Amino acid sequence: MTDVVQHILDDVYALCAQDTSGAVADYIPELASAEPERFGICLTTADGYVYEVGDTRVPFTIQSVSKPFTYALALADRGEEAVAAKIDVEPSGEPFNEISLDPVTERPRNPMIIAGAITAASLVAGDTPGEQFERIRRSFSRFAGRDLELDAAVHASEAATGHRNRAIGHMLRSFGVVESDPDAAVDLYFRQCSLTVTGRDIALMAATLANNGTNPCTGVVAADPVLTERVLSVMTTCGMYDGAGDWVNRVGLPAKSGVAGSVMAVLPGQLGISVFSPRLDGHGNSVRGVLACRELSRRLELHFL
Ligand code: DON
Repeated sequence: MTDVVQHILDDVYALCAQDTSGAVADYIPELASAEPERFGICLTTADGYVYEVGDTRVPFTIQSVSKPFTYALALADRGEEAVAAKIDVEPSGEPFNEISLDPVTERPRNPMIIAGAITAASLVAGDTPGEQFERIRRSFSRFAGRDLELDAAVHASEAATGHRNRAIGHMLRSFGVVESDPDAAVDLYFRQCSLTVTGRDIALMAATLANNGTNPCTGVVAADPVLTERVLSVMTTCGMYDGAGDWVNRVGLPAKSGVAGSVMAVLPGQLGISVFSPRLDGHGNSVRGVLACRELSRRLELHFL
């Protein structure tokens, strides 16, 4: 079995490496310097066995792959009812950076778009933004099984150019969705996006979700099983933004992408997958990431939805 999975990973890697379409994100200047040819695939089973090929140990920033984990923390800190009063769980069918609230509920449509993610960050417990960030960093580190650190250059770059996100933060404050200082909430979100991970880290974070919230390598509980279920549900319907329908159709796994080029996918109870390759498609999803997940899902028969 071991050899079969590794063989499939190697094969999918060789196939997808031929695709050089898409473009590296450049709206955050520091991300534009990513090496476009980087490519790594890592698959970690829910009992902690790791398969990998390519650039799986290269650091990059977690970006939007952070969103399900902060949402889990907000749910743990405030309870499901309080979070539901602020953030919906409906697919938006909109790009990730849409400046919008649901016109009826006046809430962000889900925690995977920026409006919902800033709101989730604002709900994390802590007396100061510094305490909130440390809580986020520690939580993500439990999922990854090692101490994660901030990429200060990416954070500074995002903070210097993130006017659209500040606009979203202030809109949330004006509607009373964010109740604290909106600039602090947006900066907290920038910092969570700027945590440094590798493909191996993301695959283990995904395997922890697959394993009901317990890290299969360290045995540490990173999230309650009930919350893990909530997070996987919202990843299924909203994780790939306006590409979510096609994703469910062709891959059939809860997933989340990030603009540094990573895609994380989870087969509940079984395994976690990460693909890292910085060139993105028009939805902001890694081209090779989407392609590799499609191929892995087909060849390993992972489509479970
Ligand atoms: O909000 C932003 O602009 C980024 N820090 C995160 C965006 C992101 O990764 C979107 N995902 N595909």
